[in-house]
Amino acid sequence: MDSFTGKLAVVTGGGSGIGRELVRQLAAQGCSVAACDINEEAVAQAAAKAEAVAPPGVRVTAHACDVADEAQVLRFRDELLEQHASDHVDLVFSNAGIGGGGSFVTDSRAEWERTFAIDWWGVYYCARAFVPLLIASGDGVLVNTSSVNGFWAALGPGMPNNAYSTAKFAVRGFSEALIEDLRTNAPQVRVAVVMPGHVGTDIVANTLRARGLPAPEAMTDAQVEELVPAEARAKLISAGLLPEGASADHVRQMVVRMATDFREKAPLSAADAATIILDGVRAGAWRILVGEDAKKLDAAVRGKPEAAYDYAELFSTLTGGDPAPSGPATDA
Ligand SMILES: NC(=O)c1ccc[n+]([C@@H]2O[C@H](COP(=O)([O-])OP(=O)(O)OC[C@H]3O[C@@H](n4cnc5c(N)ncnc54)[C@H](O)[C@@H]3O)[C@@H](O)[C@H]2O)c1
Repeated sequence: MDSFTGKLAVVTGGGSGIGRELVRQLAAQGCSVAACDINEEAVAQAAAKAEAVAPPGVRVTAHACDVADEAQVLRFRDELLEQHASDHVDLVFSNAGIGGGGSFVTDSRAEWERTFAIDWWGVYYCARAFVPLLIASGDGVLVNTSSVNGFWAALGPGMPNNAYSTAKFAVRGFSEALIEDLRTNAPQVRVAVVMPGHVGTDIVANTLRARGLPAPEAMTDAQVEELVPAEARAKLISAGLLPEGASADHVRQMVVRMATDFREKAPLSAADAATIILDGVRAGAWRILVGEDAKKLDAAVRGKPEAAYDYAELFSTLTGGDPAPSGPATDA
């Protein structure tokens, strides 16, 4: 596929960040898009803006859908086929995702399973729903978003990333297993797996929303306590991230700061990430690393897998010999 013009693409999580940029750039390149999100208002706005700058004839539709719920994914599929008057789709970007469920030991089982359900089952349900429609296209591409946490299962010292990494490893494994499966059984479809490093988006705030929490400023004391229980607060105090005797307001401010820093201090913007993904898909790549941080981490982990969680050694490899003061600030 050397051009997206005249094609029909599906983008999940199209209301924000990398997904919103994929919708915009695909539409600008003459590709009709069906975008879904759990945030109905955000995806409606993203679709309207993308259609406004697209060449004539390009349609961008917005759909409410929780990808972790198979019935909603099937409804999204039926809705988009009807609205685009199509019997196939050409591209599927399984991009929707959230962070969370960092610890298997201390985080709630509900949080772990919600993160895993969106990040893994969402990708699986979309593949079940859309691979037959990619086969019907005659020239289809399935693009699944994993992460650097699909090959490296931590964020750094004291920062486990359990549910997210488990799901992202599954996405990478599933996508790589599809390479030979599709080659053998449906050669008119190919698969690509996307592994971004740190990209400046609102994933921290959107993760709270996907867990049913309001913006940090509007959280009740009970919600703050649920988000950062006493035990976790004590660890943050000893790490110097919260002051001694930190109040609920201190925690609220810390969460706002984390969300802002994640977006503002990233080495790559969502727009640049989407361009790298689309260039990779057009070029026929099956493995799309997004960002220099992702490329370096990939090389370090592949070069010395047994040192992947020996942070002093890993960071020294990443920085070319200089010990890094903190972990590679990648991912949600
Ligand atoms: N930002 C990064 O640094 C980074 C790094 C590696 C991987 N990723 C992955 O890239 C993808 C996009 O992330 P982003 O950074 O653009 O985040 P984002 O929060 O800006 O966008 C994700 C979108 O997905 C939507 N979403 C969440 N749960 C959903 C669900 N159940 N059903 C439908 N939509 C849902 C959100 O509402 C949001 O609009 C995710 O899969 C994420 O894990 C991001």
